[in-house]
Amino acid sequence: MPKIYFIGAGPGDPELITVKGLHLIENADVLLYAGSLVNPLLIQRSHASVKVNSYGMKLEDQIELLVKHAESGKIVVRLHSGDPSLYGAISEQIIELEKRGLRVEIIPGVSSLFGAAAALKVELTPKGVSESVIITRPAGNTLDKDYIRELSRLGFTMAIFLGSSHLDEIQKSLDYPPDTPAAIVYHATWGDELCIRGTVSDIVEKAHEAGIERSALLLIGNAVDSQRKGVIRSHLYS
Ligand SMILES: C[S@@+](CC[C@H](N)C(=O)[O-])C[C@H]1O[C@@H](n2cnc3c(N)ncnc32)[C@H](O)[C@@H]1O
Repeated sequence: MPKIYFIGAGPGDPELITVKGLHLIENADVLLYAGSLVNPLLIQRSHASVKVNSYGMKLEDQIELLVKHAESGKIVVRLHSGDPSLYGAISEQIIELEKRGLRVEIIPGVSSLFGAAAALKVELTPKGVSESVIITRPAGNTLDKDYIRELSRLGFTMAIFLGSSHLDEIQKSLDYPPDTPAAIVYHATWGDELCIRGTVSDIVEKAHEAGIERSALLLIGNAVDSQRKGVIRSHLYS
């Protein structure tokens, strides 16, 4: 049965793809990739004779391309940024591919969430501070309602994807104490990575001043505090 490989490209640094993902990209015949957030150096590493940027392509056309080549025996890779399981819209692709009798294998990737945590040099779940991480996104063109206000009342570490062009609305929704630490990481792990630190009350203003309009993650919560206040020793290494 023909197969499609869904691969996580990682957050940007081309060395942050898995060994398995890189081997598949290098040996693929056909590569369909998520344009703006996949590093072009990874696309260049591929010897694929067909390389297509999925930006602006309809789902039906993407499926057609994947099915056609997989059925003719080619190695077909669908490359997503970060990890495909987060805001990758892979479910709709898998449903269509399975309907057409194709198998799917997913090779995970390093999400930009982890690229951003590394850039900030923070643990998202430090003991005594936050045992949970909320991953969410704001309402926008493709989502009618978000739950940022309700989720923020839990006080845990929160990571907001797809929010760069909705920062003012996000700030109005955040129901954390105003002095709660917050950070924005633009292009985590790329050469032009930018980390901005602040609090819930000033992070959006700082992001505007820095001209952040896309490709950024907003992280909120005491875990993001560079002073690491409130952290207590875990029993992991007692
Ligand atoms: C369609 S989602 C894909 C997320 C991806 N699957 C992941 O795991 O990182 C795109 C959003 O992810 C975030 N993002 C992706 N790459 C990023 C990076 N290198 N630095 C900061 N945010 C990034 C931004 O919020 C962007 O709007």
